[in-house]
Amino acid sequence: MTTLNLHRVLPLKRSLVEVFRYLRDFDNIEQWDPGVFSAEREATSSTQELESTHGDSVSRSGLSKPSFALQLNVMGRSVPMRYTLDICEPPSEQGQARLVLTGIGDGFTAVDTLALSATSANECTLDYRADITTADVPSLLMPVLNWWGSRLSDAAMNGLKGALENDGPSQPGALARLAERLVLPGMINYTRRGYRKMPSRGLSRYLDGRRVGISGVTSGLGLACAQQLARLGADLVLIGRGAERLAQAAESIRPWASHAIDIQCIEAELSNIASTRALSQQLLALERPLDVWINNAGALFDSQALTSDGLERTMAVNFVAPALLTQALAPMLAARGGRIIQVVSGGLYTQGIRLDDMAFANEPFNGPQAYARAKRALLDVSQYWATQHRGLGLHTMHPGWAATPGVASALPDFNQRMGKWLRNARQGSDTAVWLASHPVFAQGQHSGEFWFDRARRPGALLPNTASSETDVQALISWYEEQISV
Ligand SMILES: NC(=O)c1ccc[n+]([C@@H]2O[C@H](COP(=O)([O-])OP(=O)(O)OC[C@H]3O[C@@H](n4cnc5c(N)ncnc54)[C@H](OP(=O)(O)O)[C@@H]3O)[C@@H](O)[C@H]2O)c1
Repeated sequence: MTTLNLHRVLPLKRSLVEVFRYLRDFDNIEQWDPGVFSAEREATSSTQELESTHGDSVSRSGLSKPSFALQLNVMGRSVPMRYTLDICEPPSEQGQARLVLTGIGDGFTAVDTLALSATSANECTLDYRADITTADVPSLLMPVLNWWGSRLSDAAMNGLKGALENDGPSQPGALARLAERLVLPGMINYTRRGYRKMPSRGLSRYLDGRRVGISGVTSGLGLACAQQLARLGADLVLIGRGAERLAQAAESIRPWASHAIDIQCIEAELSNIASTRALSQQLLALERPLDVWINNAGALFDSQALTSDGLERTMAVNFVAPALLTQALAPMLAARGGRIIQVVSGGLYTQGIRLDDMAFANEPFNGPQAYARAKRALLDVSQYWATQHRGLGLHTMHPGWAATPGVASALPDFNQRMGKWLRNARQGSDTAVWLASHPVFAQGQHSGEFWFDRARRPGALLPNTASSETDVQALISWYEEQISV
């Protein structure tokens, strides 16, 4: 047998408690280690239970150890590996903490020891050791193996530092900006490739004690977003259709929580103005007010239909409902330095608003166009309202292309053709979770911006798609007329 011993010491400008919490959720590894394509938590017992058994006595406690299924990135090839968290010693009064994980792959094993020591209230040092055992390697090849292992651990340590410290807004390079301006070439980054190219994918800004409301949690991006928010410790107000489906969503979100979080569910039909208005009143009447509201619910329809209020339904669900909720919640959230996040679509780059035909009454209905116009309308009013509410962080983002039940049913051909390149729902919801949690957006900082993959983006790229100030005022008048029913 050959054993490779790797050792790195990494100073980190984050508190011991936060670094421990981030590393303990070992499936976060896909956010920081370029040697890992994906990581999923497997076991039923939580790391919190493991912590309470005080480390290595876990085997006697009868609890199963948390385990994680990884797909390693070995020279571009996906190689499976399964890790178990064997020892989990939470931060002690002396400012020490330790995690020991054992990984088993095809023909090799690894024991990773992550020992943390506090160096000040907000800084700590990670002492990382990996002992990798494989079948005998000829001594001639040992220098290559050592070089390869050393490169992998340097990349992982750099990634971890970036994920924990340099996770603020990024700036795409000149080539990426040029591709974006040309629209089609830029769309390659709407796939999972764009997500993986982000300089930092870390989500470690904890939301303990904060309350986040989110619509459309019964499926796709909304569900993934709520799971990540739970992992960050947020209390949640979940909005959806159908009490049973909402309860199921809550059950699937709860295990992601880093501690017992409060989850409240509210039913609402967002194609209906009265139901949307009732929701806004329920949200304003919450005993503990929201800190963040995420307008995530949305839908693309392949046929034209009017809602019970007489609105074209694409416009009703994707523009009128989120606009009404934004308008209702903005003063309350502005007063407490809160945030509103609008989930729109990169498809909006293809369309300008059409004030002369908001309901597709004078042209054949086209689902993707109707959807793109509604999302553009939401971006336009959000950028205007951001200027009207000091203290509010009103951000708009688009998720790229993610595999969700919504995409599978609305765009089956696209879904089939693009399948393996699509992001997963967690990757698609990343920027929304980041906007909801990162302290750089506190107290209305950067309000009114349009974001994709944690970078600011222009609101319009093609000729005749940008809205003038007069257009936006006319759009708001149209919207106010619709909700006055
Ligand atoms: N996935 C992508 O690639 C992609 C790309 C660009 C933008 N987006 C946007 O991302 C958001 C989430 O989309 P997704 O892909 O996750 O779609 P999804 O899987 O269909 O989820 C959409 C969610 O919105 C809810 N919803 C739809 N219409 C509603 C209504 N009238 N009232 C109440 N809730 C309603 C759905 O509830 P039900 O389960 O009850 O239907 C569901 O929970 C949407 O705003 C979408 O436009 C997604």
